[in-house]
Amino acid sequence: MNGASAPIAAVRTRSGEARFARAWERLLACAHEGADPAELPLDGLGPDQQRLLAAYRELLAPSPDGIRVVAHLGQSLDGRIATEPGHSSHVTGEADFVHMHRLRALSDAVLVGAGTVAHDDPRLTVRLVPGPSPLRVILDPDRRLGPDYRVFRERPPPTLLLCRADRQDAARLGEAEILGLPVEDGTVQPRRVLDALRARGVRRLFVEGGGVTVSRFLAAGCLDLLHLCVAPVIIGSGRDALCLPAIARMDQAIRLAPEVLPLGGDWLFLCRLRRAPLAPRQTQEVAMAHAATAAAGRDQLQPLLAP
Ligand SMILES: NC(=O)c1ccc[n+]([C@@H]2O[C@H](COP(=O)([O-])OP(=O)(O)OC[C@H]3O[C@@H](n4cnc5c(N)ncnc54)[C@H](OP(=O)(O)O)[C@@H]3O)[C@@H](O)[C@H]2O)c1
Repeated sequence: MNGASAPIAAVRTRSGEARFARAWERLLACAHEGADPAELPLDGLGPDQQRLLAAYRELLAPSPDGIRVVAHLGQSLDGRIATEPGHSSHVTGEADFVHMHRLRALSDAVLVGAGTVAHDDPRLTVRLVPGPSPLRVILDPDRRLGPDYRVFRERPPPTLLLCRADRQDAARLGEAEILGLPVEDGTVQPRRVLDALRARGVRRLFVEGGGVTVSRFLAAGCLDLLHLCVAPVIIGSGRDALCLPAIARMDQAIRLAPEVLPLGGDWLFLCRLRRAPLAPRQTQEVAMAHAATAAAGRDQLQPLLAP
């Protein structure tokens, strides 16, 4: 407290929170109303808050191929995201949950794998911070999920279920639209997912889990940013955070130079990756989708995302 009395410290904390809230409102305006992120008000904020806001601003930077992809996992010190039966609340702390809701609010779409829906029955909405809920995208290539999960029963926001084209037997599952995608090497490749979402006007995609899905996107070179939040807990067994094809030598490993921030009692590793760009053949289509997005504003974006 640097010698400050408790009331003075409380006032400082409140004014710091108010400043962060103002910066957050500005970020939302940048994400959804086209405001300029260069003008993010950072003055008066602590260094860690400034670095966190800069990380959010990075997600908003335009991408040459029209889409930016961020993934997040909350993991233990020993690299697990859940126990063996799939219990994952709470590996990381409250501050990381708020962080995830911010990533949702800044994104046009949030994507999870079928395993996460099966184990967690998540809502994937924005509840812990001000901001709009994104399009929900469920990746279930083999159509293993039934209609009873919340993402298929409740709306808004809309849900898009992605599966193999040869498993698409209907146009909808409950409230969700089903979209079949081409099969390559026996499954739906992450690049096809990005192509399909970009064609629907998604400029920022948040891949929220689980480990299998984030690992597949990482292995396919389909992530721009990876946020790994590491909690000081050892689970000792359970589901892996990242699991990639085996390598023989350490010089084949992905060595990163992350920024590391304290987040509550956890540590957030902000990793920048080099994503393989999508084919430019749809550049015109992307420009049109973005122009429509900018002109329509967030409220009218939803029909564009999920007709
Ligand atoms: N800590 C975190 O940050 C975090 C975030 C999200 C989820 N989680 C936890 O991670 C676990 C899920 O992640 P994950 O890596 O196993 O999978 P995931 O990435 O969410 O989903 C992909 C996989 O789910 C499989 N799957 C497993 N069980 C399924 C079922 N009952 N129904 C349908 N598909 C199923 C699919 O198998 P096929 O490909 O063979 O069809 C696919 O390989 C859950 O325990 C969840 O609580 C943790």
